[in-house]
Amino acid sequence: MKITYKKKIDPKDQLVLLPLTEDLSGLPAPFQSILKNPQLKKRFLGKKGQKAEVFFSEKKYSARLLLWGLGKKPDLNSTLIRSQFALAVKELRSSELGDLTVMIDPVLKPFLQALGEGIGLGNFHIAKYKTGQDFADSEKRTISKLNLIAPNWLGADKVYVGDGLKISTAVNFVRELVNAPSNIVNVDNMAEHAVNIGKINKYKVTVLDKKQLEKLKMGALLAVNRGSEHHAKMVIMEHLPLGKKQEPVAIIGKGVVFDTGGVNIKPTAGLDWMKMDMAGAAVVLGVFSLLKELDIQQNVIGIFPLTDNAVDATALKPSDIVTSFSGKTIEIGNTDAEGRLILADAISYAVKNYSPSSIVDLATLTGACMVALGDHYAGLFGNNQKLKERIKSAALETDEEVWEMPIHDFHRQAMKGHFSDLNNIDGSGLAGASTAAAFLENFVQDTDWAHLDIAGPAKTKKSKDIDFANCATGYGVRLMISFLQSIK
Ligand code: BES
Ligand code: ZN
Ligand code: ZN
Repeated sequence: MKITYKKKIDPKDQLVLLPLTEDLSGLPAPFQSILKNPQLKKRFLGKKGQKAEVFFSEKKYSARLLLWGLGKKPDLNSTLIRSQFALAVKELRSSELGDLTVMIDPVLKPFLQALGEGIGLGNFHIAKYKTGQDFADSEKRTISKLNLIAPNWLGADKVYVGDGLKISTAVNFVRELVNAPSNIVNVDNMAEHAVNIGKINKYKVTVLDKKQLEKLKMGALLAVNRGSEHHAKMVIMEHLPLGKKQEPVAIIGKGVVFDTGGVNIKPTAGLDWMKMDMAGAAVVLGVFSLLKELDIQQNVIGIFPLTDNAVDATALKPSDIVTSFSGKTIEIGNTDAEGRLILADAISYAVKNYSPSSIVDLATLTGACMVALGDHYAGLFGNNQKLKERIKSAALETDEEVWEMPIHDFHRQAMKGHFSDLNNIDGSGLAGASTAAAFLENFVQDTDWAHLDIAGPAKTKKSKDIDFANCATGYGVRLMISFLQSIK
């Protein structure tokens, strides 16, 4: 999307979005007359989400206008602006658009990043794998050129709109990765994305292949990989602008490119969406695509283990005992509880090699978390209240919400093994999200750690605000960026 900033409307602007609060101030000069129309006056009051389409033709201006209500001025906030701009863009996409001109009133000054995010997120399209007319139609219904009109006040603040658009590009990239099936986005492809992002941004990127994983004795990751025709990998990305002056934050993402469940195979219903089981890893890629661009002055390490969880004659079996990278032994109570196995090795690797100041992991880890919290909240677990509070405030700011969940001693007890140190499931089937988190906790040692179970919010069924029906959301990118920016 190409962006230009202008001071006033141009006769060339054929499609104009006019976001208005309830006082209906801020209509640019050529269009002020439309509010004199008694029909429109009755129908459009600027209430939140209210819309009116007007075909304007007068003197040299001839344009399709979409008036979009933002509600009362004092009620404006980032979440409202992000979602209303996304909704307005989605509405415009019901027909061809191409160029879009958006009028920005000074009342929107505190929310410019959210505005940029909303426009970019609403412009996401899912036709990547369509061809011919279907693809062309979808292309025509996206904005290719964006004109932002702000008379005399935007100035240097346009950087915030730009940041919002950059963030939306990263979120849309994550959406695309998560939507993509595992015959297209596989282990090698995810690792290639990391290498490319590293090249563009000059990050050091290390990709450990199967041989190296064997040498390092990453027994838990290799166990999950046993039944797969594709070899596992572990990706490590480094953004270290502060050099040795600061211990890094480690962001770790679950990268199961497809989860069949393994020998404890999953039922058919919903199985297709197990292509989303690498959403945590995709978030790490999305975050790293932004760190340099947004000039985030924090040392950050990104790590993601990559494999699918498949079934063949060599596959991991229930009751197998494996030795993790940490040396702890794990009984496989259920091969479908694979995420915690691969994360165990990734977490141990981060602790051993980087002594991070804190670890945050993102994982589509349990159906139980989705049952408990639905698709809006991620479950937030961890061993340090300050870290959790920081994530909670970033969540409120970005509207990528989290809900704090417990890890109790009885959850820890439940994960002890009978024949070995740990079991990867608790046989009771109760509190599945908490017991999964309790399992991960065994590998963080004394590092401050937060775990986000994103099984629910990584994808939505219904179209809502910034999100699209039956589509990945890109949940976690905005949250992690805001979290990293909040670290002093
Ligand atoms: N990938 C799944 C969790 C999941 C479920 C993600 C729904 C996204 C949507 C995970 O590997 C899994 O299968 N978890 C099991 C754990 C159980 C065997 C203890 C689950 O949640 O049922
Ligand atoms: Zn599973
Ligand atoms: Zn899984």
